[in-house]
Amino acid sequence: MTSPTATLAEVEQDARERLAAASDEAALEAWRTGVLGRSGTLTGLLRGIGALPEAERKHAGAALNVLKQSLEAALEERRDALRAAALASTVADALDVTLPGRPMRRGRLHPVTQVRREILDVFARLGFATVEGPEVELERYNFDLLRIPEHHPARDMWDTFWLDPSTTEGVSMLLRTHTSPMQARFMETHEPPIRIVVPGRCYRYEATDATHEWMLQQVELLAVDEGLSMANLKGTLQEFARQMFGPQRKVLMRNSYFPFVEPGVELSVDCFVCPGNDPACPVCRGSGWIEIMGAGMVHPEILEAAGYDTRRYTGFAAGMGVERVTMLKYGITDIRNLYQNDPRFLAQF
Ligand code: PHE
Repeated sequence: MTSPTATLAEVEQDARERLAAASDEAALEAWRTGVLGRSGTLTGLLRGIGALPEAERKHAGAALNVLKQSLEAALEERRDALRAAALASTVADALDVTLPGRPMRRGRLHPVTQVRREILDVFARLGFATVEGPEVELERYNFDLLRIPEHHPARDMWDTFWLDPSTTEGVSMLLRTHTSPMQARFMETHEPPIRIVVPGRCYRYEATDATHEWMLQQVELLAVDEGLSMANLKGTLQEFARQMFGPQRKVLMRNSYFPFVEPGVELSVDCFVCPGNDPACPVCRGSGWIEIMGAGMVHPEILEAAGYDTRRYTGFAAGMGVERVTMLKYGITDIRNLYQNDPRFLAQF
């Protein structure tokens, strides 16, 4: 500290040492008040000049003013240095090249979405355009126009979620049980030639097990043109199976029944879990075959209802479950895995 008798050099040295020790804005401000402020050391010395003998006043005044300016400059310098250091350390933190990188979180498409796109791509290459229809459907399109009238036993093939009639102004509506209603919708507003695929969600009021879910995705296939036959249907589905599952996978077409096709078939792919004879196999149950789609020639009555000349036009249709195709492709044994949203499962695709 300075005493009244301290020399100028001592005052200066003391002030500079304390300035050098000030390490933030608050310390700088305290230093400024203590040295250059109204009751600061230097200010006190300046005030004392008047009491000096006449001969010394001029000299002392000039020296004090030089010191004052020099300390003011030193204060600014110190302030700049502190700010630069603070900035430098911020930048150094921001650019620390030794920090380990942050892992990139990459999203991915759900396996069922991937496979749906693949299916549509295969059919796009075969000349089929993609169209979509409503999930909340009229009974008329889901059933009646497909030759499945009320009380027809075939309705038992699709356990249905019905809409509360009080919310539909009495119109009979449901969650579509398959994508086939889009066959009737599309034919109603288009003329042949027709080649479309219809992807979409369907709903079934049934218990879930390893191969059944209450919500499923289907892809419907419809072709109407002159001269289409079972041979075209078979060729198209075989080509599809070859492109989706590779040439080593076997397919099987068997007689089946759907009211909207005649004849109707069922296309199956050979089991990928067991050798085809394990009764405990959760996927094929020992049959060796997994059904992936229903198909057939569009029933002539449906073509007629659309106003087509049935002597000229024939058509084929098919409908497949996207989840089943996904399971086949990836060897998934339980359909329920697909919609449980477990990241450990989903991250594998
Ligand atoms: N819509 C049928 C179903 O969901 C599948 C199908 C489509 C069968 C087209 C024949 C022709 O079971």
